[in-house]
Amino acid sequence: MMENFYITTAIDYVNGAPHIGHAYEKIYTDILFRHFKKRVKECFFLTGTDEHGIKIQKTAHAAGITPKELCDINSNKFKEAWALLDIGYSKFIRTTNDYHKKIVQDIFEKLLENGDIYKHSYTGLYCSGCETFLNAKDLDEEGKCPIHGKKPETVSEENYFFRLTKYKEKIISHIKNNPGFILPEFRANEVLNQLENIEDISVSRAKSSVEWGIEVKSDPSQVIYVWIDALSNYITALGYSVEGNHDDNFKKFWPANFHIIGKDILKFHSIYWIAILMALGVELPKSIYAHGWITIDKNKMSKSTGNVISPSTVMEAYELKTPDALRYFMATAAVNGKDGNYSDIDFKEKVNADLANNMGNLLNRSLNMLVKYFDGEIKEEFIKDNELNSKAKNVIEEVQTFFDKCDISSAANSIIGLVDEANKYVNDTAPWSLAKEGKMDECGMVLYNVLNLMVKIALLIEPYCPNIAQSMANQLKFDINLEYTEITSNMIKPGMLITKDEIVPVFLRLDSEFATNKK
Ligand code: ME8
Ligand code: MG
Repeated sequence: MMENFYITTAIDYVNGAPHIGHAYEKIYTDILFRHFKKRVKECFFLTGTDEHGIKIQKTAHAAGITPKELCDINSNKFKEAWALLDIGYSKFIRTTNDYHKKIVQDIFEKLLENGDIYKHSYTGLYCSGCETFLNAKDLDEEGKCPIHGKKPETVSEENYFFRLTKYKEKIISHIKNNPGFILPEFRANEVLNQLENIEDISVSRAKSSVEWGIEVKSDPSQVIYVWIDALSNYITALGYSVEGNHDDNFKKFWPANFHIIGKDILKFHSIYWIAILMALGVELPKSIYAHGWITIDKNKMSKSTGNVISPSTVMEAYELKTPDALRYFMATAAVNGKDGNYSDIDFKEKVNADLANNMGNLLNRSLNMLVKYFDGEIKEEFIKDNELNSKAKNVIEEVQTFFDKCDISSAANSIIGLVDEANKYVNDTAPWSLAKEGKMDECGMVLYNVLNLMVKIALLIEPYCPNIAQSMANQLKFDINLEYTEITSNMIKPGMLITKDEIVPVFLRLDSEFATNKK
């Protein structure tokens, strides 16, 4: 068993409110975190907000408030959204936190002292969307930033630069020697190609052009440019210290097992961040996982199109009391690392099919049969050979293998595949007919086999749907916080008893009679 596990998300810019794309990443990471909590002794999950830079300064200005006021308002919106989605992070970092600012300044000074950072006057093409200088070859045919569709500004400044080129060969060989360092593995080539063209990067801006940032300690005319500030959050949050007096959390949890980020910022994580860590002499994270992007009805979400959907909009539209359905949908909306799509129709169809019809109904009708035929009691003689046990064992292993590569959609498909098997088993064995024919032992055995499997399914689905899983656990009378090593063949013990009024549907179809009555 792994001793410690550390997982992080990107920290979101606070110049707007959270949308379903941000939610996708946090749900994704929370699912990984909850899964590994069942396999690892101590787990730590970091998320937060990225609060400095010209965009935030400008947005605040336009709104007539200070940057700090804007950050406070919007950072809270992210926190509220994550509470609504049951994102169980261990720590929420804000880059405006004093401890973070101090450590970032120390990091900058250390890199300066070691000669990894140098001063240089420079004229470049600055994209305020990317918060970075772009190379001419990064631009599209019209000379615009391909991500933001805007022409970068020509900016001349004396800035500090980081010697990225010094680490180029070391990063290339690290990526080549460590398959799985970049996940999904198909992204590694993309990064290797980007590495071919790297140059030293600007890591500060003149205070005269950007005020809202962390000052360079030894040169207050400059502020530290956002990427060194933002990326460092992964270690400042744990109490990293340049002098080596690290807090316990750093000693315990660094290096990170997984940095979970969007594909658009993979370059910053797999090249810039890695070079910074090499320069600091800090151990490298074990893996960086780049997820794809979520579109809405196949369109890119954007303020100008007006198609931005927030997680709370979806929750309210469907009057969802728990986020399980949305979490489950998002988790399965994209094939491993590829882009995915949200549409109301797909959402409804997917969760109705998998959570209501398939999983929920199976539990519900099995429990009802147990009550009808056996007064709700599991009897010793029901526990015989159980053909579903070996199938469950295989799926439990398969799910862990998928999770080891952060492939949560494939893992979900395996779990639902197991529910399909169980449904097929019930339909083939027809316990209602067995009861009619008076074959009560056989009928009891079938119900035992299915319910026993449902315990395992609940444990497997818990990371995706914690509330549904808890409801399953309440009805099947087991502890949902069991670890993987505690999953044995026969989880339900003889004597387990359920009464009719304890049986509740774990998930109501969206638009079901109950659901629509409430509208
Ligand atoms: O990039 N679908 O912040 P950010 C999926 N502050 N993921 C999406 C998405 C979408 N439609 N839109 C955004 C930043 N994301 C920096 C990160 S990390 C040290 C600093 C993801 O608010 C995006 O890919 O622009 C990124 O991982 C995260 O949301 C934050 O994006
Ligand atoms: Mg972005």
